[in-house]
Amino acid sequence: MADQLIDKVKELLKEAENFSVETAEEIEKYRIRILGKKGELNALFAEFKNVPPELRKEYGQVLNQLKTAAAERINQLKNSLYSNSEGSESAEDLTRTALPIEAGSRHPISLIKNRIIDIFSRIGFVLSDGPEIEDDRHNFTALNLPEEHPARDMQDTFFVHKGPDYMLRTHTSSVQVRYMEENQPPIRIISPGRVFRNEAVSSRSHCIFHQVEGLYIDKGVSFADLRQTIMHFANEFFGEGTKIRFRPSYFPFTEPSAEVDVYWGLENEVDYRMTKGTGWLEIMGCGMVDPNVLKNCGIDPEIYSGYAFGIGIERTTLNRFQIPDIRYFFENDVRFLEQFGPAI
Ligand code: PHE
Repeated sequence: MADQLIDKVKELLKEAENFSVETAEEIEKYRIRILGKKGELNALFAEFKNVPPELRKEYGQVLNQLKTAAAERINQLKNSLYSNSEGSESAEDLTRTALPIEAGSRHPISLIKNRIIDIFSRIGFVLSDGPEIEDDRHNFTALNLPEEHPARDMQDTFFVHKGPDYMLRTHTSSVQVRYMEENQPPIRIISPGRVFRNEAVSSRSHCIFHQVEGLYIDKGVSFADLRQTIMHFANEFFGEGTKIRFRPSYFPFTEPSAEVDVYWGLENEVDYRMTKGTGWLEIMGCGMVDPNVLKNCGIDPEIYSGYAFGIGIERTTLNRFQIPDIRYFFENDVRFLEQFGPAI
């Protein structure tokens, strides 16, 4: 009885080694007959209990050989079927995918930008945008930066055309002007976008970067509102209890003005370089919109007041992901980019 079983397995083994068919259906038929749930192999395994103990070892071995041989043969046949057909008809199947397409991942700048938009949308800010090539009025003059004003030197500019002047916008504050020209208060907008400055590229700064501009104009808006909004943002974005500080500063289009720093830490060499040895990283400029700017854009400063802020997305992203060098963002090295998932 046991001998018969072993012979049967050996016979199937021989079949497996020499088995050859032409079509995928025949291969599948064979697979089901041998390896299928109700196939030969399972039936033979079920006979195990009827094999006397001294023969069980041999029986087990041949069964396993059969299993491996049949599976290998099926694979071989499938492969040869595939490579044969590649040269003939299916080479003409132009719809067939050439290579596996790997799933991409979002750029870290987009991830952070979306997160910032999300936080401000939930407290009533709406999106607005403007062009990257701006005229002098929207980038400078209307923002209280008249021609020849020395404060223009704060933002080294790439000009596209001289007389009349067109430039790559140096900040997203230009969108404020565009929106105020078209709309009356209450105004509550955020404007993310790319900006350009003629600056030396280093680990901390780049000539291309991104900002999210915020603008809130209504009756009776005060610096306290600005402060609360920024604190709300910091708690939402960096986590409850994040240390931030407001540092008095100067921008021609806001008065009073401040810069906001977030505490980054000061533990290693990267921290020193990123924070210039202070432990604090500047992430935005802000302030109360200068009455002159409101006037320039057709809004009565006797009735309305408001605040504005401009968040630097790169700085914020470096901090959020602890990235040591701003240049990584623009090199498009997949090894860097694929480290950031679709969600954070
Ligand atoms: N536009 C300023 C900059 O790019 C930032 C800013 C925006 C400051 C809004 C105050 C208000 O440096």
